[in-house]
Amino acid sequence: MTRAAWTIGVAGAAGATAAAVAAARWARPTVEVAPARPVLHGQAMVTGGTSGIGLAFARALAERGCDLVLVARHGERLKKTAGQLSWRYGITVETLEADLATREGAAAAAERLADPDRPIEVLVNNAGKGVHVPLAAEDTSEHEASIDLMIRSVLILGAAAGGAMRARGHGAIINVASVAGLIPMGAYSAIKSWVDTYSESLAMELGGDGVQVLSVRPGWVRTEFHERAGIRTTSIPDFLWLDAERVVEDALADLDRGKIHSTSTLRFKVLAAAAAHAPRPLVRWATAKIKGGRS
Ligand SMILES: NC(=O)c1ccc[n+]([C@@H]2O[C@H](COP(=O)([O-])OP(=O)(O)OC[C@H]3O[C@@H](n4cnc5c(N)ncnc54)[C@H](OP(=O)(O)O)[C@@H]3O)[C@@H](O)[C@H]2O)c1
Repeated sequence: MTRAAWTIGVAGAAGATAAAVAAARWARPTVEVAPARPVLHGQAMVTGGTSGIGLAFARALAERGCDLVLVARHGERLKKTAGQLSWRYGITVETLEADLATREGAAAAAERLADPDRPIEVLVNNAGKGVHVPLAAEDTSEHEASIDLMIRSVLILGAAAGGAMRARGHGAIINVASVAGLIPMGAYSAIKSWVDTYSESLAMELGGDGVQVLSVRPGWVRTEFHERAGIRTTSIPDFLWLDAERVVEDALADLDRGKIHSTSTLRFKVLAAAAAHAPRPLVRWATAKIKGGRS
């Protein structure tokens, strides 16, 4: 049985409780398994690697043979996640406790990325948060902090990783954008739109030097994201929700194929195409409907 089949088998077991499924994710497989994909060597840095999509990237890259550097703000959770990943996959996991919304935090991660003695082969620029504040609010600090985290730090880390990878002639940068970047849903959409365009530009800049860049556009994914931002999700139908694991598997498959954008599942590919090509008044109407259900 492959490792992927083993995981699906456990997760799908009839009557399994959510706690049992969560515990099984960390259990070591009891059979010898062949890697599902070619093994990537070297280290991967995952920002926001302790939860949701970032944790799914950390697991998938560990499964492919990468050692990890996890970056997040909360030290205890970082240590716990690192211990679990290293035990589960037999890899080395470094942790970097840093608030990437600050210049100091981003500089610490950039310094690690640029270290020639400990090369990082894959950067996953994933740390992010929801922004649920009106654009014309008197206090713009929440918007500014979101820009610092999801634009400034992505730029700083991308520059550090891109420069080091270009010098070595290989590497991959995965930036987590969003389907929301294709529609006008406030500051978050504007930020993720930047990530998407930035990624495509970086791919053009570095592609000739052996560095791959991928922009991932998840749809709605069940993580801590919405609760942290105080976004109501009851109006979002069940069939629209994605698992972080699926988003990440599709992203890594798209990276293998040399793509620049990755949108997981047919339903979100269709929605993304509609958002990109439908008449803008229709896109604004649909966006207003989605917004109305979330406030
Ligand atoms: N969930 C969705 O529906 C969805 C859809 C589209 C795109 N996305 C994007 O996917 C990415 C991951 O989101 P998620 O849903 O996995 O969210 P999540 O479950 O809330 O995880 C966020 C991760 O980022 C870290 N983080 C947050 N702020 C940070 C900061 N200032 N500095 C360093 N690390 C920070 C968190 O750890 P600490 O709290 O310890 O720092 C955590 O590890 C984000 O870029 C988000 O915009 C999510």
